[in-house]
Amino acid sequence: MKAAVYYKYGKPEVVSVADVPAPICGNNEILIQIKYASVNRTDAGFRSAEYVISRLFSGLFKPKNPVLGCEFSGIVTQVGSEVTDFNVGDRVYGFDDSGFGSHAEYKTIKASEPVCVIPHNVDFEIAAATTEGSHYALCNIRAAKVQKGQNVLVYGATGAIGSAAVQLLKHFGATVTAVCRKEHLELVKSLGADVVLDYQATDYTQTTERYHFVFDAVGKSSFGQAKLVLLDGGIYISTELGKNGENVYKAITTKFIGKKRLMFPLPISTKEDLKLLGDLVSEGKFKPQIDCVYALNDIVEAYKYVDSGQKVGNVLLRLED
Ligand SMILES: NC(=O)c1ccc[n+]([C@@H]2O[C@H](COP(=O)([O-])OP(=O)(O)OC[C@H]3O[C@@H](n4cnc5c(N)ncnc54)[C@H](OP(=O)(O)O)[C@@H]3O)[C@@H](O)[C@H]2O)c1
Repeated sequence: MKAAVYYKYGKPEVVSVADVPAPICGNNEILIQIKYASVNRTDAGFRSAEYVISRLFSGLFKPKNPVLGCEFSGIVTQVGSEVTDFNVGDRVYGFDDSGFGSHAEYKTIKASEPVCVIPHNVDFEIAAATTEGSHYALCNIRAAKVQKGQNVLVYGATGAIGSAAVQLLKHFGATVTAVCRKEHLELVKSLGADVVLDYQATDYTQTTERYHFVFDAVGKSSFGQAKLVLLDGGIYISTELGKNGENVYKAITTKFIGKKRLMFPLPISTKEDLKLLGDLVSEGKFKPQIDCVYALNDIVEAYKYVDSGQKVGNVLLRLED
């Protein structure tokens, strides 16, 4: 089968398209013919190994698993002998940030992992953009224990995580202020944001509004800035480690010192959450944003765009002919 492979860490050019053996379906697994996969910041992070800690999972000196791609949609082509909840021909979508492997024509996954049947009214493209950004958004919203009626600010509301966060927060009943560039204000409003701010014109830390939760979905701010607009008891979460990794140790210190807290939750993906996200898409309550679609042969260009930090929502890779 054709796959995008990488055998060393580095820039997008370390990835190339090659013929590799298709994976073999285990007794408790399903084999999926991939239709679409996303090329996202999780894949890019593992590819570059910019944060050395990722090598603890992907291989200390070189990648253990040469095929990236953690988010996918496709068709089940084989079912392991112990699998009872999938059938050949099922349309499925899933998230697999331990096995990866969806930047390929075929991938296997344990039937018990986060993989579900695509709702009947959702197409393969949308299904392939349903699970990565929204997974991080959902985990962080849960960690902050956002309640109905709370005031929340999402910084970087146009990324895969930010655009999902705005919609999920509205679903959970929060009042949402979304911060993005002027060109994206209308888009973010259309996702349901109550208030939109252009970060080039307005410094959100200098406004009079106060928030229960500030979620920096692109990791461009700091706890020091967010504290200025957090209510007592308020929570700040960023998707990045922060300057000198401050978001890791401040997650511990702010637990005991001060009235405002920084959290750094570890995201966990479950089948139940995947199903919830698919149901929200099916019901029209969550619209995953698709920026553009690349052919498998253009994987390097796809990574270059993802690495630019300028994508709006999700970038997809088309595996089907
Ligand atoms: N911890 C993890 O495992 C993990 C996993 C995935 C992602 N991440 C991190 O999470 C972050 C978000 O990922 P993502 O895929 O959602 O991001 P993304 O899609 O790459 O975000 C791109 C968006 O960021 C916005 N942006 C760029 N610079 C900005 C700035 N200075 N201020 C505000 N917005 C800015 C841009 O919108 P505008 O044009 O409107 O500025 C663009 O639409 C990344 O930093 C990524 O590394 C972490």
